[in-house]
Amino acid sequence: MSNETKSTKLPTTNAKLIAWVDEVSALCKPEQVVWCDGSKAEYDRLCDLMVEGGTFIRLNPEKRPNSYLARSHPSDVGRVEDRTFICSINKEDAGPTNNWAAPAEMRATLNGLFDGCMRGRTMYVIPFSMGPLGSPIAKIGIEITDSPYVVVNMGIMTRMGHAVLDVLGSDGFFIPCVHSVGAPLAPGQKDVPWPCEADISRKYIVHFPETYEIWSYGSGYGGNALLGKKCLALRIASVMARDEGWLAEHMLIMGLESAQGEKTYLAAAFPSACGKTNLAMLVPPKGFEGWKVTTVGDDIAWIKKAPDGRLRAINPEAGFFGVAPGTNMSSNPNAMLTIQKNCIVTNAALTDDGDVWWEGMDGAPPAHAIDWKGEDWTPGCGRVAAHANARFTAPASQCPSIDAEWENPEGVPISAFIFGGRMSKDMPLVFQAFNWSHGVYLAATMGSEATAAAIGQAAMRRDPMAMLPFCGYNMADYFSHWLNVGRQVPNPPRIFRVNWFRKSDDGKFLWPGFGENMRVLKWIVDRVHGRGFGIESPMGWMPRHEDIEWKGLDYPSDTFYNLMSVSRKAGTSEAHAHEEQFDMFFDRLPKEFIFERELLRSRLWRSPEKWELAHEAH
Ligand code: GTP
Ligand code: SPV
Ligand code: MN
Repeated sequence: MSNETKSTKLPTTNAKLIAWVDEVSALCKPEQVVWCDGSKAEYDRLCDLMVEGGTFIRLNPEKRPNSYLARSHPSDVGRVEDRTFICSINKEDAGPTNNWAAPAEMRATLNGLFDGCMRGRTMYVIPFSMGPLGSPIAKIGIEITDSPYVVVNMGIMTRMGHAVLDVLGSDGFFIPCVHSVGAPLAPGQKDVPWPCEADISRKYIVHFPETYEIWSYGSGYGGNALLGKKCLALRIASVMARDEGWLAEHMLIMGLESAQGEKTYLAAAFPSACGKTNLAMLVPPKGFEGWKVTTVGDDIAWIKKAPDGRLRAINPEAGFFGVAPGTNMSSNPNAMLTIQKNCIVTNAALTDDGDVWWEGMDGAPPAHAIDWKGEDWTPGCGRVAAHANARFTAPASQCPSIDAEWENPEGVPISAFIFGGRMSKDMPLVFQAFNWSHGVYLAATMGSEATAAAIGQAAMRRDPMAMLPFCGYNMADYFSHWLNVGRQVPNPPRIFRVNWFRKSDDGKFLWPGFGENMRVLKWIVDRVHGRGFGIESPMGWMPRHEDIEWKGLDYPSDTFYNLMSVSRKAGTSEAHAHEEQFDMFFDRLPKEFIFERELLRSRLWRSPEKWELAHEAH
């Protein structure tokens, strides 16, 4: 540990924490150690430092006060799933969907990589709370990092600083998270704006589920580096949730209040870059005057059974790390208003007047800009201006639609779970599970097409509960855990599947999406409260055209039934694909799933060639 740190008074008396920081510092050999206090002064100082070093560009304060643009190294633009590891003692406990490595071997590898990895840099100690400070559902983590970009982003995304150490006390429990960009500086060597390990095969995002530890090396980007988010709040928290009987999910949480004042909270899981932020901040469309939609969270939900027997959810985060491209005043005005000030934008383009721009922003593209790689850009140049996974970081408190209860330490009561992938074919707009185990089956078999949120994703994959990259243990055990949770609440939330992304043969979206998704949500709310009508289809309960509120939108019933239909052939091959998906789980697969699959096949088998909702209904 450096002399400077030894001579200053430490902000904690937690002996375990002090010893651990000493140990990591001895390994990483930074020039100095700084304990982050979470103050505005600290935030500003680090931003200034990054502006000086070229990591940050200060945006025009008249356009976007107190905001910055960051450009990552061109290789460091998303999560790296094939470099993400779950190092349980037994390989089977990580399961067939996770990368596993033996803990002892991985520790040896990490020791080699981290030895001296912070030379010439400052080591920051970031105390953070996932969940409102002191909430019975919240957890405390400490992230050690050599990246000031990580410090300021964690400052927005979590409750961070000295207040967390006060809650931690002298013997409180914390989850240790160690991060390094993996770019030590030789004496006199000049730093680069976005240091990282450029060789992807030398990046490591590592989780030790039995000891609740996280080690991340070589990347400065989002989910690889802001360790409170996917690493702690999902991968490690999912293991804690299994051990303690709750759920840690890749879900948005939103409130819907009708004109009559009836309030319903929903939680929805969509894979990365498949619409959570947009749905969470939805603005009701024409015809829904008097309705109010509110945002509790846009990415992660921690869900626990409350004393009253209901499942209640908190958003463990304090900010949004949202996809920028496609965000504009008509698709997501609440997001646009949230990022008017105090935000960080990563990998967007810089306009000549000192603001940011990305594909799909309002208005005409600028005549000239500097693209996300720092090169000159003009509209016809044949390249995108912003990376497809460009992101904004902004405080949740700035969101106009933020729910009054979003920091309630007890959480909000959840009435429905919604699961949706990105499927251009053969998946209906909406249907409801027949019961809890059918719903868990529908969630577990969800498929989705590739997005830019993770590097090198397959074109289409099964993404159970949108948790494929985020479940810290064997997914078959995770399915069983879901089945158990529903059995332990007297009136479990209803479960729905949705798909906003179905396309026509000429490649156009069949469903307008965004605000219009409200029409689907209203049917879901009606079903939850025992009002909405549903037809029993082979897939689940489905609304007829007349069961959806169409006021303000002219949507012909023919198009609607096209959007809802599934041919027997497509349905059967889907059920067949579930069998392939399940084979890898062997004997750990819950029995319910075998039966659900057989029931689905039987229902399809006895249906007409093309099962038509319109035909059934009239
Ligand atoms: P992560 O932050 O990666 O977890 O993503 P997310 O699930 O929050 O996705 P987000 O809401 O940021 O949306 C990702 C992309 O999907 C954006 O480009 C949106 O414009 C687009 N999108 C969102 N909702 C809809 C919709 O209803 N219809 C269509 N067609 N596109 C949508
Ligand atoms: C996702 O990929 O699901 C995200 C962004 O929300 S990241 O923080 O990089 O995980
Ligand atoms: Mn996400």
